Amino acid sequence: MGRENLAGTFQQHYGRAHSICVQAPGRVNLIGEHTDYNDGFVFPAAIDRYVTVLASPRVDQLIRAYSVDFGQTTDFSLNDIKPSEDCPWSNFVRGVVAQYRKRGFELPGADLAISGDVPIGAGLSSSAAIEVAVAETFRVLGDLEIDRTQMALMSQAAEHEFVGVKCGIMDQFISALAQRGTALFLDCRDLSYSAVPLSEGLSIVVCNSAVERRLDSSEYNLRRSECEEAVRVLNQKYGGIEALRDASLEQLEAVRSELPDVPYRRARHVISENNRVVAAVEALQAGKTQEFGELLYRSHTSLRDDYEVSCKELDVLVDLARQAPGIVGARMTGAGFGGCTVNLVESKAVQEFCDSVQPAYETETGIQCPTYVCLPSAGVGVCGTC
Ligand code: GLA
Repeated sequence: MGRENLAGTFQQHYGRAHSICVQAPGRVNLIGEHTDYNDGFVFPAAIDRYVTVLASPRVDQLIRAYSVDFGQTTDFSLNDIKPSEDCPWSNFVRGVVAQYRKRGFELPGADLAISGDVPIGAGLSSSAAIEVAVAETFRVLGDLEIDRTQMALMSQAAEHEFVGVKCGIMDQFISALAQRGTALFLDCRDLSYSAVPLSEGLSIVVCNSAVERRLDSSEYNLRRSECEEAVRVLNQKYGGIEALRDASLEQLEAVRSELPDVPYRRARHVISENNRVVAAVEALQAGKTQEFGELLYRSHTSLRDDYEVSCKELDVLVDLARQAPGIVGARMTGAGFGGCTVNLVESKAVQEFCDSVQPAYETETGIQCPTYVCLPSAGVGVCGTC
């Protein structure tokens, strides 16, 4: 829903006007998949699709939240915050508020109305966008002293504790700290980053396989523990290996006989993916876009074969993209198991690209494929216009 309509909806629902409007973007990850929780590197960009929160403070301790998209209202007291089974979307709100409380911040009660155009369950981080939007809303309402990195970390903790997904920091970080026109090269160990402008003449096209992805399925947490298994064996042999970030492919090969095949292949993906991120950022900065594109394809192959988080439809999308006009590179993006592919396409050929991929995907899978041409956008902020 547009921001103007949302203002009217807030007024209708709560019988008063909102006092602030906050927007946080979804994201697309260009390269660096399943590396963040291994202390590695990622290269995501925020997209021009947002979760919007309208809010007004209350004088009591009550939080009321209305999801316009789910048509559901829920409330809870600041003094008793528990996850809700009936209203799962509200756990992003509850989780973030609980994190503020846990850290000793004083918050006002509030009425909230939430709406978004980040596709849900598509691997474009609608959950991180709502968490970060709520974190910013309460920062402003409570006039709290907290920086954007802390807000991202708090949002990640909310997801761990209230949603049960042991996600890394990438999604919340980019939603909080993205800079317009760039992707962030982020070191997930020390959270240092640099903003890298995307090449002129190239566009990011996201193709949605329309296979719904369920991140809270145990597969994601299972991948994490498989990586930890590889770390234990590598650390026993070499010492000083706290995360897969610390290991090289040579070291991994040397312990191959001591590792079961699955954790070996998981580790091979993560270590090689970290190398690919570094190489991809260098290639982009040097204007070597074909090289950048080639690394995207290799990332996809590694996610498909070694990490085993792709699915038939995502593979079809990447194969079709490879043959389409204007393509530079393509891969699945996000956690996988469905969701979207990210495609780097020459801007002048975007229409032809979509005209080639969309019907071919439908013919091959029987599923329609929404596509989004995404502008790399800025992170969370208060909107001045509503
Ligand atoms: C999800 C998680 C991220 C990251 C990606 C995979 O989006 O929230 O932290 O692990 O999957 O790269």
